[in-house]
Amino acid sequence: MRLIDKVKMAFGVEDDSLHLRPLKNKDLPDILRIEDSVYDYPWSEQIFKDCLAMGYSNWGLHSEGQLIAYAILSIAVGEAHVLNICIDPDKQGQGFGRMFLQELFKVAKEKGAESIFLEVRPTNKGAIVLYKKLGFTQIGQRKNYYPVEGGREDALVFSYSFD
Ligand SMILES: CC(C)(COP(=O)(O)OP(=O)(O)OC[C@H]1O[C@@H](n2cnc3c(N)ncnc32)[C@H](O)[C@@H]1OP(=O)(O)O)[C@@H](O)C(=O)NCCC(=O)NCCS
Repeated sequence: MRLIDKVKMAFGVEDDSLHLRPLKNKDLPDILRIEDSVYDYPWSEQIFKDCLAMGYSNWGLHSEGQLIAYAILSIAVGEAHVLNICIDPDKQGQGFGRMFLQELFKVAKEKGAESIFLEVRPTNKGAIVLYKKLGFTQIGQRKNYYPVEGGREDALVFSYSFD
């Protein structure tokens, strides 16, 4: 079965305009527009270029030809690490984040991951709610991980095991 058909099944979507595709350099303007509008400390264009060049598992979700979400995963030695996941602000709160992550679970599993990890700001309540609803549990905390106005804040480390 083609990946896009799996996505549509997973998403319960009958809309043929929804597509999951590996990110390409031509997606960079849309990625940066979303990234800059969502994060106080967005990744730079160079970071995304490096991720694309390094062959990470880079995915974009397109609706009606428009990029509405992207995710960067590093998958190696049985572990997947979500380095970035972001939904266009206009599309947040509509179920895309949950569905996108569930699809990324499958991609990670197919590439041999047994577990999936991510870091999140303690202040990012919406993301934490989503991760917990999907079965992630907090396994640790990284000190002074993220920049924040006037200093740094810790990251909460969450993991999900495919067992
Ligand atoms: C966090 C993020 C990925 C969630 O995606 P989303 O599409 O907005 O979330 P969904 O609509 O799929 O919601 C999924 C679930 O999480 C819950 N949720 C999502 N955002 C929430 C919020 N701000 N407050 C409370 N619950 C929230 C919803 O209640 C929903 O539960 P349900 O499926 O049982 O109804 C998205 O908001 C985003 O890209 N935020 C900016 C970037 C970011 O913070 N990325 C994560 C960095 S670690």
